[in-house]
Amino acid sequence: MSGSQRHPRTAMVTGASSGIGEEYARRLAERGFALVLVARRADRLERLAAELRADYGVDVTAMPADLGDEDGLAAVESRLRDDGDAAPIDLLVNNAGRGHGGDLADLDPAAIDAVIGLNVRALVRLTRAVLPGQIRRAERRAVERPEPAERRVAERPEPSAPRAWPFRAGGGGKRGGERSGPIGVLNVASVAALLPASPGGTVYGASKAFVRSFSHSVAVEAAPHGVTVTVVLPGYVRTDMTVAVQRMGLPGIAFVDKERVVVESLRAWAAGASEVIPGMPYKAAGGLLRVVPGELFRQAVRRLGIRRMGNGE
Ligand SMILES: NC(=O)c1ccc[n+]([C@@H]2O[C@H](COP(=O)([O-])OP(=O)(O)OC[C@H]3O[C@@H](n4cnc5c(N)ncnc54)[C@H](OP(=O)(O)O)[C@@H]3O)[C@@H](O)[C@H]2O)c1
Repeated sequence: MSGSQRHPRTAMVTGASSGIGEEYARRLAERGFALVLVARRADRLERLAAELRADYGVDVTAMPADLGDEDGLAAVESRLRDDGDAAPIDLLVNNAGRGHGGDLADLDPAAIDAVIGLNVRALVRLTRAVLPGQIRRAERRAVERPEPAERRVAERPEPSAPRAWPFRAGGGGKRGGERSGPIGVLNVASVAALLPASPGGTVYGASKAFVRSFSHSVAVEAAPHGVTVTVVLPGYVRTDMTVAVQRMGLPGIAFVDKERVVVESLRAWAAGASEVIPGMPYKAAGGLLRVVPGELFRQAVRRLGIRRMGNGE
């Protein structure tokens, strides 16, 4: 993309055909972002794209692709590279993910591959594809429009502000205005990433621990270039992925609203945070998990005979 071209601020959301990804798409459209929506179910993406265009007047492209498939992944990587005429991606939300239910010994190897292929391989490849262009643009912007330090601090969102939006797209497209605002990646992991063991969700839990560790490492590499990488660790959210969990009769406090997941994580990303756990109960649980010795946790799981801790489909 030529540096002089002006495009609206643009986000890509993977797994936008349902659940948390659909909520990311709505909230970003509401803030004026043009969108590229990725998932396998083309009909659902097209329906959502039409609705968001009508409601918010933003450009929305449905990009059906199977991220577990080499051709699908390559097509999305190609869109993420900042080398064509299309609007560069200011925010990549790596949200697509899948779980599995059952002990490892009983799992179909193809299901194992599917979880790793989507949760780990695709997320790494898409992050790798988008970063070089983001780094180039962030560095170019820093040279063209160096911001006074006091303004950067003053514009930081107030971390405790209840449900406040940290930013508007402020794009150079239909809504006019100068291209500004953060550039980077938001990776959706899970609070399972903090668990010292995830029986019943072995591969899922380990895949999310990978996403967390990977995101933190990339965040350190990208920060000096002005690119923010944030990992979000949601607890249980009522979506298609947790239908079985929703039938277990857990108290309401066990679930966090998808709206909260999206709003808190976008706010954290805009503030340059490297990790966020949405919702107070899970923030507290996350704090506890960081101090409880792993062996104590595993002994308790064994003693209580807990057979299922991860997300299942
Ligand atoms: N729900 C929870 O309790 C919870 C908790 C922590 C973390 N998370 C994470 O949040 C993310 C979103 O999950 P969700 O709860 O919103 O579940 P969901 O409603 O089942 O959404 C999963 C999304 O991923 C897409 N997807 C699945 N396989 C794909 C593939 N091969 N290629 C492209 N897209 C694919 C699905 O679309 P298509 O089927 O149309 O492809 C769908 O849009 C996941 O990463 C999940 O691990 C969820």
